[in-house]
Amino acid sequence: MQEGQDWIYSDIVKDHFLNPRNYLMGDESNFDYDVSGIVGNPICGDQMKMFLKIDPKTDKITDLRWKTYGCASAIASTSALSELAKGKTLDEALSITAEDIDDYLGKLPKHKFHCSILGHDALREAINKYRSTS
Ligand code: FES
Repeated sequence: MQEGQDWIYSDIVKDHFLNPRNYLMGDESNFDYDVSGIVGNPICGDQMKMFLKIDPKTDKITDLRWKTYGCASAIASTSALSELAKGKTLDEALSITAEDIDDYLGKLPKHKFHCSILGHDALREAINKYRSTS
């Protein structure tokens, strides 16, 4: 890798940042969800909220939305995560790693890798909440 290349976002990252998938537009009441999870990133203070619609018969995430105060990398990472997690069982969704998201996006700049954890933590929070109440 050439010097300075680690500052460059891949075309996939840029696409997901500029056209985020499953982003919750407007108020939370615009989406019919079963559970939500909210987390903050202790490194930068940004926040992420994830909303899940779950089929109790199959344990699958049938739909999801998210919103954040996070940066471009957090937005792109959570957009990618939302595509990876939709249609998966809760256990399958929990097994998605930050490395999976990084690979899906064609790699984030190394110093932005921590941003990819934010969406995943919100997903985990929502699933844990769902399991503790159902
Ligand atoms: S700098 Fe906060 S999530 Fe990226």
